[in-house]
Amino acid sequence: MNVMKSFREALSNAKNVLILTGSGISAESGIPTFRGVGGFWRKYQAQHLATPEAFAANPSLVWEFYEYRRRIASEAKPNKAHEAIATFQDRSTKEGKSVTIVTQNIDELHQRAGAKDVVELHGSLYKTCCTVCHEVTVNKSIPICPALEGKGSPDPNIMISDIPRDDLPRCRKENCKGLLRPHIVWFGENLDENVLNQVYVAVENCDICLVIGTSSIVYPAAMFAPQAAQRGVPVAEFNLETTPATRHFQYHFEGPCTVTVTEALES
Ligand SMILES: NC(=O)c1ccc[n+]([C@@H]2O[C@H](COP(=O)([O-])OP(=O)(O)OC[C@H]3O[C@@H](n4cnc5c(N)ncnc54)[C@H](O)[C@@H]3O)[C@@H](O)[C@H]2O)c1
Ligand SMILES: [Zn+2]
Repeated sequence: MNVMKSFREALSNAKNVLILTGSGISAESGIPTFRGVGGFWRKYQAQHLATPEAFAANPSLVWEFYEYRRRIASEAKPNKAHEAIATFQDRSTKEGKSVTIVTQNIDELHQRAGAKDVVELHGSLYKTCCTVCHEVTVNKSIPICPALEGKGSPDPNIMISDIPRDDLPRCRKENCKGLLRPHIVWFGENLDENVLNQVYVAVENCDICLVIGTSSIVYPAAMFAPQAAQRGVPVAEFNLETTPATRHFQYHFEGPCTVTVTEALES
């Protein structure tokens, strides 16, 4: 039987669907993935800026990087894959099924496409956290503060970033005024325990799983789909290429996810 047909049949019989997504799903919206060609900002590898060490060493540089990423994500639009997922979730919910969406992305494109209750594993570009009082705040302003106006250019010839600490985003509480950081789980940091528990429940309860646009090398996110597969749950991977996890999965659909995911989820 045709592999896509077989997957679609399994999907139509499922009651609890788990959809895991990574940066590949937003690539066709123009947001670069970390491991692709767009994985550089100025002369830095993106992964080296998304760390607590980079922020401690130069918060101005890291804020410029995030100002750039906030702007790119705000200008981007959800693509056909984000839309197909949101429509599928809506349709399935009306049929009494459950569809849990867990994303490693911080761009909020799932939500902008209309998806509900999206579990954000790694936080959001549009939230900040105070380094002193730890208050988390939603902030969608671009620039995020006057000193970052016109900043964040990815031009590799720009060598210096030296916005004074006091001019970087600061806590709104008068008695705090602490330095804010992006509310994002950086490389080397732990995921929020409540969020992780929510995902463990979804992994244990799903009877089918889709894993879309993720390289399956960033832990713990990389282990969720293999864990579901280990329980005998059919897992379908949607990617441009095979990944270290492909061998664990029953289905692998190769190609741009705007094509493959749309075909897999259409009614
Ligand atoms: N959009 C975002 O929010 C964004 C962007 C970059 C990085 N990140 C962060 O970086 C980390 C990197 O992990 P990751 O595994 O998500 O990304 P990754 O960069 O490691 O891997 C992206 C994967 O997507 C695949 N891919 C690329 N374009 C695709 C397409 N059109 N269709 C299908 N697959 C495609 C690639 O082959 C690759 O396997 C994550 O923790 C995430 O938080 C987020
Ligand atoms: Zn504060």
